[in-house]
Amino acid sequence: MPLRIAVDGPAGSGKSTISKIIAEKLNLIYIDTGAMYRACAYISIKYALDDASLVDKLQNCDILFRKDGQCQRVILEIDSDELDVTDEIRGAEVTAKVPETSKIKEVREILTRKQQEIASKNDVIMDGRDIGTVVIPDAEYKFYLDASAEERAKRRFDELKDKGEDVNFEDVLRSVIKRDFEDMNREIAPLRKADDAILIDTSNMTIDEVANKILERVLD
Ligand code: DC
Repeated sequence: MPLRIAVDGPAGSGKSTISKIIAEKLNLIYIDTGAMYRACAYISIKYALDDASLVDKLQNCDILFRKDGQCQRVILEIDSDELDVTDEIRGAEVTAKVPETSKIKEVREILTRKQQEIASKNDVIMDGRDIGTVVIPDAEYKFYLDASAEERAKRRFDELKDKGEDVNFEDVLRSVIKRDFEDMNREIAPLRKADDAILIDTSNMTIDEVANKILERVLD
C-alpha cells in the first residue's frame, strides 16, 4: 500500500524541517515542491523569459532532487546542461520573483504533473501549499502546519542572522505577511488547509514535538 504524506502551510511554518525528519525516520522520499517553484523563478530570471517563453522552456527541462549526505541538492537539467541551483534558489531575487511565476496556470500544471508522477511511483512526504488540496488530494495522511506571522518571521530572522546577514525584523515580518497574502489570494491553487488535513499550530512547539505528533498519527 502506498504511503503518501502531504504537508502544507505558509512560509516559515516548519514544513521542510519537519518533512525531512519524517522522511528520514520512515524512509520516504522528500519532495520540496517550493524548491520546484523556486527553480522555475530562477529559470525565468536567468534567461529573462516572459510567461509564455518560461512555459516553453519548462517543457524541455527537468528538476531533480539529489541526496548529498544530509542535504538534498536541487538540479536543473536544461538545454542538455546540468545546473546545481540549490543555493541560488534561496536568494532574495528568486524569493521575490517566485509568487509571480507560481501564479502562471501552465507552470502549475507542469509542476503538478511532475509531482503527481513522483507520488504515484514512490512513498513520499511532499510539502508545499496545494499538496493536500490539488496534488495528492487522496494522500493517506495530510497535515497543515501553521504558526503566527510574528513567530514565523522570528524563525526566518534568526536563520538569516545565523548566516551573517544584516537584517531588520520589521522587514522580515513585512515580507512574511506579503508572501502569505500572495500565496492565499492566488487565483489557482491558493494556500488552503484541506478539509481533512490535521492542523498543527507549531508556534509554541519544538521541532521534535511537531515531528513526534506527525509520527504518532502515521504509526498509529
Ligand atoms: O516553500 P517555499 O517558501 O520554498 O515556496 C516558495 C514559493 O513557491 C511560495 O511563495 C509559494 C510557491 N509554492 C506554491 O505556489 N505551491 C507549492 N506547492 C509550493 C510553493
